[in-house]
Amino acid sequence: MSAEGAPAGTTVADRATAGFRQRYGAEPAGRWAAPGRVNLIGEHTDYNDGFVLPFALPLRTVVAAAPAPDGRWTVWSELDDEPVEFGAAEAGEPGRVDGWAAYVAGVVWALRADGHDVPGARLAVASDVPVGSGLSSSAAIESAVLAALVDLGGLDLPAGRWPRLAQRAENDYVGAPTGIMDQSAVIRGRAGHALFLDCRTEEIEQIPFDLDGAGLAVLVIDSRAPHRHADGEYAARRKSCERAAATLGVTALRDVDVAGLDAALNRLDDETRRRVRHVVTENQRVLDTVALLRAGRVRDTGPLLTASHASMRDDFEITVPEIDTAVEAALAAGAYGARMTGGGFGGCVLALVDAEAADTVAAAVTEAYAERGFTAPGTLTVLPAGGVTRLD
Ligand code: GLA
Repeated sequence: MSAEGAPAGTTVADRATAGFRQRYGAEPAGRWAAPGRVNLIGEHTDYNDGFVLPFALPLRTVVAAAPAPDGRWTVWSELDDEPVEFGAAEAGEPGRVDGWAAYVAGVVWALRADGHDVPGARLAVASDVPVGSGLSSSAAIESAVLAALVDLGGLDLPAGRWPRLAQRAENDYVGAPTGIMDQSAVIRGRAGHALFLDCRTEEIEQIPFDLDGAGLAVLVIDSRAPHRHADGEYAARRKSCERAAATLGVTALRDVDVAGLDAALNRLDDETRRRVRHVVTENQRVLDTVALLRAGRVRDTGPLLTASHASMRDDFEITVPEIDTAVEAALAAGAYGARMTGGGFGGCVLALVDAEAADTVAAAVTEAYAERGFTAPGTLTVLPAGGVTRLD
């Protein structure tokens, strides 16, 4: 997302405040910030009741907000000149508000559906989380807006319940059948840690992920690949997993473990077999990664990341040439492991690298892209950051 027209050195929080003042001619009552996320490992496991291990990014979306006495919602974003205004009727019916503002209306909808008296509000949104890169800009805006409305309305809603509500906004109002990983990472992430989440029980454990201490870095590579049919393919993968669970007579693929995998696969057609093998082995890779991190063996997680990528490429079939090129080039340049992160068909790759080698690996990926005539990738090194918070 760009900050066109903003003075140099202006932070995302400054931009939200400036947008609020300019649009509404008043001061915001507060500002709330929510990060984007990457998933270290555990892809397409969340909606199978499985395990994930994401972390929150230092890139954030900030919402400046104040109550609106007329009980309506007005939201302006730096993405769009025109603010969007809606009332209870539009927020009460999925689909009535569309585009980026649907994420805001969806949160109002989810809160009201949960029985809360949601205060009308004026909101201004600025973001450093790039849109369409698979870093969960949608979960970031949902979570920042949710935090703002909970605080402005003094709503009785413990933070432990926020991820499910934000997910409902996305599933039932926006209409994207995603799992609970993104919202959990964005809301519950902690600096210096990866979030180990059991998506069935919603139990979490903060796993120390001390990259700095190990002399390591996570390089995030934005593949810049156009999202090709991502929504339809995501829904198709989810359906295929649900059908497989039904055939196998289990509640979700979480209930198949590696020991029972061969017996399960024998009962499925070829394509479904590959989908199931991905999910079952990916759950195990999350558990193995957690075990290594608990033992302080950060570097040794590399092969698990790379195996996860191979599984997404060959079994779940959700990668694209740009993504595979980035992974191969990063590994050839010395990364300990690399994998696509997020839903697939574009988005980002993460590579675990020596901190001092991050630039070399990024350059190698850029060169491999140029050789194949792809649009140059974006690269960024990140450390795990904190989740949604009120700034002031
Ligand atoms: C997207 C969804 C998540 C999850 C991932 C794949 O990011 O929003 O819920 O399913 O894809 O792991």
